[in-house]
Amino acid sequence: MEQTRLFTNEERKVSVYHTETPTDPRLVTPETRLDELNLNWREKDLPERERTKHVHRLHPYLGKFIPQLVEIFLRKYFRTGETVYDPFCGSGTTLVEANVLNINSIGCDIAAFNCLLSRVKTAEYDVPLMRKEVLDILARVEDRTQATLFSRQGADDEFEDTDNEYLLRWFAPQARKELLIYRSLIPNYRYQELLKVILSRAARSARLTTHFDLDFPKQPQTEPYYCY
Ligand SMILES: C[S@@+](CC[C@H](N)C(=O)[O-])C[C@H]1O[C@@H](n2cnc3c(N)ncnc32)[C@H](O)[C@@H]1O
Repeated sequence: MEQTRLFTNEERKVSVYHTETPTDPRLVTPETRLDELNLNWREKDLPERERTKHVHRLHPYLGKFIPQLVEIFLRKYFRTGETVYDPFCGSGTTLVEANVLNINSIGCDIAAFNCLLSRVKTAEYDVPLMRKEVLDILARVEDRTQATLFSRQGADDEFEDTDNEYLLRWFAPQARKELLIYRSLIPNYRYQELLKVILSRAARSARLTTHFDLDFPKQPQTEPYYCY
C-alpha cells in the first residue's frame, strides 16, 4: 500500500513496476495475449548493452525503438517469410530485428541519412573483406597525417584549406584534416556506405563540443571545461 502511493495514475494502470517480471521477448508467440505483456522494463531487466546489441549501436539516433519491443510485436504478428513494412524506419530497428527473425522487411524514410544507415545495418557483408577495408582506410589516414606532422612531404595541403564554415567552426585543424582525408579515400573501397556511416559517427564525436552535449551543441567548446 505504501509503495502504491509512489506511482502516478498512469503507472498504476499498467501494473506495479517492482513486483512483476517483464516479458521475455524470446517467449512471445502469435498466441501470446496482448494483455499478458509486461513491457515495464527497468534498467536491470534490459540493460543498455542489451538494448544496443549487435548493429543497433552502430550510429547514434534520437528516438530509436528499443529492439526488444520490436521483437515482441514481430513475434506476435509475423511468421518467418512474411513481410513487414516500416514507412518511418528511422535508424532501421524494425528492419534489423526482422532480419534476425527471418522476416522480410521493407523500410523507407524521408531522411536520406536514415535510409543510408538502415541499408548499412541490413546489408550482407563479406566480413573479412569489410574488416580489411575498415582497418586499411584507418591505416592510410594515419600514414598521411603522421607524414604531415613530421615532415612537409606529402603534406596534403588541400585538406588544410576549406571554405566550409561548419567544418572551420566545429573541428580542430587536425581532426578536420583527418576526417577530410578519410572522406577522400572512401571511393577506393567496396563498402563505401559503411565507411560513410563510420565517418559520420567519428565526425559527430570529433566536434568541438563537451562530451555531455553531443546531441544539441550550440557553441563550439574551445576552452577547458568542467566535466560533470
Ligand atoms: C521516431 S523516428 C523512427 C525511429 C525508428 N523506429 C528507429 O527505431 O530508428 C520517425 C522517422 O520518421 C521519419 N519521417 C517523418 N516524416 C516522414 C514522412 N513523411 N515520410 C517518411 N518518413 C518520415 C523521420 O525522418 C524519422 O526518421
